[in-house]
Amino acid sequence: MTAKQNARALLCALLFVGELLLAGSLSSQGMRGTIRKESFGKTASGEQINLYRLSNRKGMEVAITNFGATVVALKVPDRAGKVADVVLGFDTLEGYEKGRAYFGATVGRYGNRIGGGKFSIDGNTYTLPKNDGNNTLHGGIVGFDKKVWKARKTASKDGESLELSYLSPDGEEGFPGNLSVKVVFALPADRNELKIDYTATTDKDTVLNLTNHSYFNLAGEGNGDILDHVLTLHAKQFTPVDKTLIPTGELRDVAGTPMDFTRATAIGKRINENYEQLVFGKGYDHNWVIASEGRGSLTLAAEAHDPKSGRTLEVLTTEPGVQFYSGNFLDGSKGKGDKAYGQRAAFCLETQHFPDSPNHPNFPGTLLKPNSVFHSQTEFRFSAK
Ligand code: GLA
Repeated sequence: MTAKQNARALLCALLFVGELLLAGSLSSQGMRGTIRKESFGKTASGEQINLYRLSNRKGMEVAITNFGATVVALKVPDRAGKVADVVLGFDTLEGYEKGRAYFGATVGRYGNRIGGGKFSIDGNTYTLPKNDGNNTLHGGIVGFDKKVWKARKTASKDGESLELSYLSPDGEEGFPGNLSVKVVFALPADRNELKIDYTATTDKDTVLNLTNHSYFNLAGEGNGDILDHVLTLHAKQFTPVDKTLIPTGELRDVAGTPMDFTRATAIGKRINENYEQLVFGKGYDHNWVIASEGRGSLTLAAEAHDPKSGRTLEVLTTEPGVQFYSGNFLDGSKGKGDKAYGQRAAFCLETQHFPDSPNHPNFPGTLLKPNSVFHSQTEFRFSAK
């Protein structure tokens, strides 16, 4: 080797070592999001449950338990950088085992209502337990929100993700087919967004509707009501309901009604108007038809903003509908830190297929057949302005 070649080889070696050192220091600074696992206690029947804490470099932290595949905490900064937990919930597993409000849970096999607790596939009628008057709500008496899910860390393009899976046996809560469900939660290292990816397969024709039931208060959980939050719903229509909250089948234009959130409007502005749908819902508890319905691509469905803290939530989904629920049934029961969650202390934006779709052939279909894969995505993106 000539002296020149030697010098070049030395330079290459130095550059290589430099790159290694740089890569090492970046990964120790946490270029990727991280997941920490801790115990969340044991269920009443003695099953060990864990809590998984996902955190990123932008100050966001999400805690998820494999009991009900539930989002337990979601901490995001306000415009001054002050972090608060913006979802309602409980401090203990027992709270989730006993709770009836579906705080943060993955809801299934059929999120929202099935009228009369009945539906048919190919002439076979399936009868479900009724847990909401004459209807079946959120999968029945023991829905996915009360099941113990299997957890495993997986790698995705967003870094480490948490995969929760559950096998719902044939006939569970009256639904046909062994349904295998996977929900992957990801928190990208450098973006404040919770990404939720659902897949499911079955061995018999069945129906399904999966959603996440987080209750948001962008001022921080337990910090008053959400009536001053400003909401936009990118939807020109909604599905009106009867007094038991089952859709009539109509797709009604929101224009000229208090259901019109096509322009940012405070949630509380019209909530007490004497509009029959608001009377039936005791406030907002309806499904809106997302503008790009049918396309199945990730679409901005909703934006909520808390003018005081500046925290803003954007909800994107591949689903055709979103249930905007204004926390009308919250009754002052205690949650985290012994705080009382009164009526309208939070709102939900449940991305979903329309309620009672199996009984409404004009709604986007919820039938899943063997050999096909159900796939859906939802993202909760946070910012402060
Ligand atoms: C959904 C329903 C509401 C209510 C809540 C849970 O949002 O549409 O009517 O049942 O879940 O309390």
